[in-house]
Amino acid sequence: MCSIIGYRGDVSASKILVSGLRRMEYRGYDSVGVATFSDSQIRVKKGVGRVDQVNNRSNLQTLPGNIGIGHTRWATHGRVNETNAHPHMSSSGEIAIVHNGIIDNYKELKEILQGRKYFFKSETDSEIIANLLQYHYDITKDIKRSMIKTVRELKGDYSFVAIFADGTLAAARFHEPLIIGVGKKGFFISSDVLGFIEHTDEAIYPDNGEVVIINFGGIELFDFAGNPVMHHLTKISKEFADVYKGEYAHFTLKEIFEQPNSILRAGDNSRTEIEAFVSAIRDSRQIYITGSGTSYNAALVAKHLFLKYGKKKIDAIISSEVRFYPDYFDNQSTLIALSQSGESADVMEAVKIAKDSGAQILSIINTMTSSLAQISSISVGLNCGPEIGVAATKSFTSQLSIIYKIADMVCDKSIEFDLKKISTAMSKVLESSSRIQKTARVLKHASDIYIIGRGIHYPIALEAALKLKELTYIHAEGLPGGELKHGPLALMDSNSFVIVINPNDSTFNDTLTSAREIKARGAKIIGISDIESDVYDHWIEIPSINESAYPFLEIVPIQLLAYYAALENETDPDYPRNLAKSVTVK
Ligand code: AGP
Ligand code: GLU
Repeated sequence: MCSIIGYRGDVSASKILVSGLRRMEYRGYDSVGVATFSDSQIRVKKGVGRVDQVNNRSNLQTLPGNIGIGHTRWATHGRVNETNAHPHMSSSGEIAIVHNGIIDNYKELKEILQGRKYFFKSETDSEIIANLLQYHYDITKDIKRSMIKTVRELKGDYSFVAIFADGTLAAARFHEPLIIGVGKKGFFISSDVLGFIEHTDEAIYPDNGEVVIINFGGIELFDFAGNPVMHHLTKISKEFADVYKGEYAHFTLKEIFEQPNSILRAGDNSRTEIEAFVSAIRDSRQIYITGSGTSYNAALVAKHLFLKYGKKKIDAIISSEVRFYPDYFDNQSTLIALSQSGESADVMEAVKIAKDSGAQILSIINTMTSSLAQISSISVGLNCGPEIGVAATKSFTSQLSIIYKIADMVCDKSIEFDLKKISTAMSKVLESSSRIQKTARVLKHASDIYIIGRGIHYPIALEAALKLKELTYIHAEGLPGGELKHGPLALMDSNSFVIVINPNDSTFNDTLTSAREIKARGAKIIGISDIESDVYDHWIEIPSINESAYPFLEIVPIQLLAYYAALENETDPDYPRNLAKSVTVK
């Protein structure tokens, strides 16, 4: 979940590490730490808070030396406090580590090492790596051998970087991301290319189950059996360097405003892959589609599109549920996996289960160098550039863009959607952002928000609820309009807010009736529609467009509503509490 970083080169490490961590902060941000090596000594500074807060307080950037490691944490084991923040030192202080992931067998290993007089300070699972490395190093006096012995004993999913008392950096990757940057100033080890993109665009992508050692002699890679492995240098696309907010107050706002352009770029350069998706979908006996969070909501839109326009049944399954039904898949099935990051542990697990049962894996991903891209037979890229805001915005509409392209081809062009027209209409919605900002003020004291939509608008209601929860911390729930009378109507009173997704299509009259039923119970109604109605206390107008395209237009005002309501509630829209952008733990 977190970010790890390492540097060994010709210039001061701590500045490079802090600026890399700042760029990767979206991955996890409850505490921060840096360790550097100089004068035969490893020094650590760490603390609770965001990168800039801890840096201002503890001057991380003043740590001396040209070799170092750093971390931003998203706690899984142990409270958020300074002791549990990374880096963790071995008990003798000769090795420090930063770790991303979970070590499942840390308790057993800890007991064994405590019996051998290695002591522990933190409540984390991660500290075991430092002492296990130290234990093997004390016996072997050899860094490569102690790394290989350590990774063979660890169980769980991890990537880690260690700094040894001679200044060697050593890293290992097992089901968590790890990328090496190779630049003029030295070597970088990072969870994400954003950790070093300002210094180099040349990278090595170690495979799962590999160890990296960087010392005065250069870089070497091994598999977990200790055999040397070779990798080519890969050029990183320059668009990944675009990680500045520019004129916008937050990344989330910038990313919302990028959508009229980003939806047009979705799937660019993937024409062959899109055609391959189409034939795989046509040829498969069963088609499943999976994702987590926003990506799952996009999967639900796909399910509706295929049913409505192609009379083709696709089963949408939440990724974290797949493990309970491992017999879903066989060698006649195809699984389409949606993921912005391509690193979500739940998605990866679902894909592995399907693949082991012989299913074909197709994926729609933003990060084309991710683990999901590597495991898929065919991947189509969202091409929307880095999404830094923890709440998914532009990646959602780019996922829709690709889903619509594929569905339209599978359904013999019956969807009739025009991305250029959608893009122009989206820009119109964005032009009304100051009106939406005013409407957001009414949500300031809301304790519950319900969002209703029918048919294809129901997944949009779910996505709307997710955005409102993440950004405002207000309880929000998406409902199919027809379900109100089966229970939720009991909740409606004058304190409730209901957002009604009601475009002028076949769901319009039914949804308007639901709105009247709600209004009769005293709830306040925000209508998202191209047609005004007296039932709405607040009307957010969207342009009229052909029926299939409304989902693109409906979600944008709700993203803005959630963003501005977050500002009203003084929450940080880019970094919601307790969340991380890339959820690489189960
Ligand atoms: C979306 O706003 C959330 N932050 C979250 O639900 C996210 O969509 C989910 O974790 C899946 O991420 P992925 O697309 O990178 O796999
Ligand atoms: N499991 C470790 C911890 O709780 C690492 C978590 C992370 O990836 O940030 O410290």
